[in-house]
This record gives sequence, C-alpha cells and structure tokens, in this order.
Amino acid sequence: MTGKPGSHVTRSDLAGEYRRVRAETEQICVLLQADDYQLQSITQTSPPKWHIAHVSWFFEAFVLPDFVAGYRPFHPRFGYLFNSYYETVGSMQPRSTRGMLSRPTVDEVYRYRAYVDEQMLSLIESVDDNRWTDLAFRITLGLNHEQQHQELLFMDIKHNFSVNPLRPGYSQTLQDTQDGSVPVQWIEREGGIMEIGHAGDDFAYDNETPRHQVLLQDHKLASRPVTNAEYLAFIADDGYTRPELWLSDGWSLINRDGWRQPLYWQQQDGQWQQFTLGGMRELNPDEPVCHVSFYEADAYARWAGKRLPSEAELELMLAQQPVTGNFTDHAILHPQPGEGQWYGDVWEWTATPYGPYPGFKPLAGSMGEYNGKFMCNQMVLRGGCCVTPPGHARASYRNFFYPDERWVFSGLRLAEDG
Ligand SMILES: [Fe+2]
Repeated sequence: MTGKPGSHVTRSDLAGEYRRVRAETEQICVLLQADDYQLQSITQTSPPKWHIAHVSWFFEAFVLPDFVAGYRPFHPRFGYLFNSYYETVGSMQPRSTRGMLSRPTVDEVYRYRAYVDEQMLSLIESVDDNRWTDLAFRITLGLNHEQQHQELLFMDIKHNFSVNPLRPGYSQTLQDTQDGSVPVQWIEREGGIMEIGHAGDDFAYDNETPRHQVLLQDHKLASRPVTNAEYLAFIADDGYTRPELWLSDGWSLINRDGWRQPLYWQQQDGQWQQFTLGGMRELNPDEPVCHVSFYEADAYARWAGKRLPSEAELELMLAQQPVTGNFTDHAILHPQPGEGQWYGDVWEWTATPYGPYPGFKPLAGSMGEYNGKFMCNQMVLRGGCCVTPPGHARASYRNFFYPDERWVFSGLRLAEDG
C-alpha cells in the first residue's frame, strides 16, 4: 500500500463501508444450506464456514488487540482454526483439513462475526484521533481482504458443488448469458518506456507498488477474450495431444490428470455442457472460455500463432478503460459474450511471473505476509471476473495463481508482437 488511505476517510463513511462489505459476505451465503457450509472438495477450496470465520479472524489478528486494551478474543482457539497462512502470528489448522471442522457450528460462526462487528464498530467510533489514520488503513485492508474472500466463496462453492453427481446449482435465479459472437479486432499499441504500478492515495495492495518504469515493444492486443467456440477449435485440432504446443510442465500435467477440456466441461450425447453456479448448462460458444489453467492458456496462444500479453501490456490498456464490466452486481456469476471486457467476466492469464516490482517493500510486521511471500512460481492475472465484487477491480490490481490452477474464473486474451 502507498500513501495513507485512512487519512481522508471519515468515521461514519468507514463504518458504513464496514457494514456494507460484511453484509455482502453474508448475502452470498444466504442461498446456502447448513450442509453446504462444510464442504471442502480439494485442498485449494475452503468451506464457506471457514471463509466467513477467517475474514472475521483477520480483524481479531490485525486490528482489535492493537487498538482495544485488554481485548478478549471471541474464543481462545479460533486463532488456530482460522489463521490461513500467517506464520508469524502463530500455528494453524492445516489447509487441507479445514473441512474437518464440524465445530464450531455455522450458528456459532455467525455469532463470532456479530461479536467482531460489535467490537469493530465501537472501535471506529471511539478510537483516538491520533490513531485514526493507522486504524482506517488496517480496516480498509481488512475489508479488501474480505472482498477477495467473497470472490473465493463463489469459486469454492462452484467447485464444492461440482463434485456432487447431482450437479446442484448454487442459485436457481441467475440470468442466462446472451448469444452473439463478436469478431475480434487487433488493437495496435505503441511501445516505449512506460510506467505501471499504483500511485496516489487510494487503496492498493503492497504488491502493486512502487510505480516504476517498464520497456515495452510495439504490440497488438485482441479486443476481447478468447471464446468457447475458438477454444473448441483448438480441441478439435488435437490441441491437447500435440506436445509441440505445450510447456513441459503443462504437458506432464494434462497427461497425468487426463485433461482434454477446461474444468467443468463435459460432453453429453455429443453436446458440450458446462457446470455453472446455476447448475449444468449447454456450452454457449460465444462466451469467453473460462476455467483454463495457465498451461492451457499458453498452449492455446501458441496454437493460434499468438502469445499471452504481459501484465504491463494489460495494465496500460486497463488504465485507459472505465472500470466497468460483468461483476457480481450483474447477478450472472458467469462470463458472458461481449466486446472489450477489459474488466470483469474472466481473470486473464498474463505471460508474467508474479514477482516483486523494483523497490517493492512488503507491509510492516505480520501483514507483510499478505502478498510478498508468494512471489515465486505463480503467474499474474489481470482485470477481475464475473464473481469479483464491483469496486474491487482496478488497473494496477495483480491477482496471482499457480499455473496449474483452474477453479479460478480464469480465461485469456491474445496478444502479438509488432
Ligand atoms: Fe485470507
């Protein structure tokens, strides 16, 4: 984070934002049954119950004890259960066993949330003026953290439900996506010495800073992400069985695990279907392809005679676009056909490994574990997706995942040199 985002927000505005974000998390869970809260289909997906407790723990770990004298946590062992990966804070329940926690119950976790909310709202009202900037900064971080988990909730619920042979939909009332193929245009982009990274006083994570120079060559960007129809052509052209298209690690992976299509796709009587948050649907060829790994995105680009854009190429383009798109407020929760789609719909894999910007400094103390320690072996994605909350996307935002992960709403856009 740069600047001090807390310095220009009022107490009532921040209290309002706190209530809004916390309520939004609970709204996502309204459609869940108690049984759904417990599921953890793979190590990467956490049970919804764990998510909603963990985002509350974040305030107990990084805010309340530092500002409230003699603060008593809701439960002395919740720090162990709901710490995610903050080693300097203490030990934790192993990630792969979060689904083993039938206790605390869902009701208890909601009481935990209410307890933390009461403490936090009273702190916002009562903290000394001379500590306001620090407090506001940490709460803003905590709320952005919670919004990241809102996105994870949708991703994880989708995967958790997908392994059930009944293929239950999370929601029965989601809008269908429209039809309509949009021809791709190639947008010419001039190279040169450019600047990327976050600047200014608005909130950003530490990994988006500092702003710095990059050298870009002239290049072209596709005017929209790759569609299902285009990806089907790659499959039909034996894309998954031609080693010359694949990075070595990707080739090993797809053969080891038998991948022959994106996650959630299946063929039924010769027709392609896909699992969505609304249950099984016919594959709409005009939608952006989603739930592909970095390896699949890279192989597709090679097959198409193009390449993935770098994160700098995408950020500079994003910075020239309005931050609008198919986010959660569209209530589709699925990528839909369209043009541009710089923000929303699908996170776009880039060719850039996730690493520190020149001069990067992690946040002080345990909050420095938020981003910096993951800067190895992951790839950057840009732009946000259909399960990103509106207001949580920006040009400089760096998402990152391992190249084999595809339960993320991840797609791709093509680029080419010159
Ligand atoms: Fe977290």
